[in-house]
Amino acid sequence: MLNKINIAVLVSGGGTNLEALLKAQEKGEIQHGRISLVISSNKNAYALTRAKNHKIKFSSIHKSDTLSQVEFENKILKKLSENNIEMIVLAGFMSILSKAFIEAFDGKIINIHPSLIPSFCGKGYYGLKVHQSALDYGVKLTGATVHFVNETPDGGKIILQKAVKINKRDTAEILQKRVMEKAEWVLLPRACEIVSKEIYKEKINAR
Ligand code: GRF
Repeated sequence: MLNKINIAVLVSGGGTNLEALLKAQEKGEIQHGRISLVISSNKNAYALTRAKNHKIKFSSIHKSDTLSQVEFENKILKKLSENNIEMIVLAGFMSILSKAFIEAFDGKIINIHPSLIPSFCGKGYYGLKVHQSALDYGVKLTGATVHFVNETPDGGKIILQKAVKINKRDTAEILQKRVMEKAEWVLLPRACEIVSKEIYKEKINAR
């Protein structure tokens, strides 16, 4: 038996998706992976408190103006390597990773985005802007997408998607909450299991 795939979750904010992952892990729903590290790019992120509450190792690598992107990423890479991390989940991580970083974990980084990609995604589409854009456009369905990370923001291959209906009286805030509850928190643990299982199988085949 191989050990489970060691997973790090990268966050920057409230961490409700992290919470969904940790609850799924506690319920035994992530069978081939183990979330063993949380890294935040924001030292004040509530996500860090969530990691602490669930007794998961955490670290803050604050993205400040004095740190270049390369230095920031190198610090993260060092932490990942010290903890033998084999897969990365971006869950509200507010930084676009460089080509070099992505190549270091090729096919092993996944991200959650709160729309049905390819709509309302890419550079600048984050937070309430995604939901406000969906409302402004008048789409009747939105949702969430979990995808692999490549060099194009929100551009990698899709792993899972779930649609969520838009109601007439929705505001961006109401819609954001519904998309999280009905789609994001459901999809991310599932995608985590799907991808960690694939990496697990690859490891067995490589032996
Ligand atoms: C989520 O909407 C996620 O889809 C997006 O950023 C938000 C993070 O929320 N990438 P949280 O920190 O998980 O609560």
